[in-house]
Amino acid sequence: MNLTDIVRRTAVPEPWAEGENIPWNDPDFSARMLQEHLSQEHDAASRRFEKIDRHIAWIHTYVLGEKPSTILDLGCGPGLYASRLAQRGHTCVGIDFGPASIAYARAQAERESLACTYRLEDLRTADFGAFHTDYDLAMLIFGEFNVFKPEDIRHILRKAHAVLRPGGKLVLEPHTFAAVENEGRRPPSWYATPHGLFSAQPHLVLTENIWDAQRAIATTRHYIVDAATGAVTRHAASMLAYTDAQYRDLLTECGFSDVAFYPSLTGKPEEDAGYGLFAITARR
Ligand SMILES: C[S@@+](CC[C@H](N)C(=O)[O-])C[C@H]1O[C@@H](n2cnc3c(N)ncnc32)[C@H](O)[C@@H]1O
Repeated sequence: MNLTDIVRRTAVPEPWAEGENIPWNDPDFSARMLQEHLSQEHDAASRRFEKIDRHIAWIHTYVLGEKPSTILDLGCGPGLYASRLAQRGHTCVGIDFGPASIAYARAQAERESLACTYRLEDLRTADFGAFHTDYDLAMLIFGEFNVFKPEDIRHILRKAHAVLRPGGKLVLEPHTFAAVENEGRRPPSWYATPHGLFSAQPHLVLTENIWDAQRAIATTRHYIVDAATGAVTRHAASMLAYTDAQYRDLLTECGFSDVAFYPSLTGKPEEDAGYGLFAITARR
């Protein structure tokens, strides 16, 4: 792409048609993103460790009743949750398609002899039952839920349901409807940087958001303009907004019961939670 393609872009893209996510699975992007996951300066890619520790305490005590459990962490990133759960006596399988994240998670598990197995795979195509079935808990946290197309998230939920033992738990951390709508209504923005998440070379990042009110979908486009050549790379992602009733209906449709809502992954409102995320638990 080039600058002319930006000028001539369609005003309103078809959701997911220009891209389904930022390039988590690109090796170079994943290596740069790993630094963001591990950073203790912000909560952008993963939360800071003190917040993760609070979430782990709630999952361990409230969701799992402190019983040693087998856990499937979907979109596990560098294993910041799985490793801590393993340190509390649980056995974890993490799936993610970010190669640097999975390499980091595997190295930590090896170094600390943790009961964690990590798989570099796409959640949309992965066989969740490849290593283990009868999980006590499957989790998909930190907002990734909304990024999947409706047919993909249904498929992921059904696969999770199939590998949970009867009575096993599901923990989700999706966005509120308002958070997705706010994202879609955010005004365009840009920044210039000598190196950043999207490129190791000097570049501009031009971002715009589109809110499709009828379908309740926010689409974000990032145009990365290489400073030296003017070449443009586009990364687009869409997020579907659900009301609480729609979350409940979707989970029921996928076989889950006892759907419950919590203000956060600590079970309580968190002052500095950010991002408009909340927690859902359900049972197979
Ligand atoms: C916001 S990060 C959260 C990571 C981790 N759950 C945490 O809270 O530290 C979202 C993660 O989902 C992963 N992801 C997104 N789409 C995926 C897909 N289709 N298959 C596998 N992993 C995916 C990304 O690679 C990334 O590691």
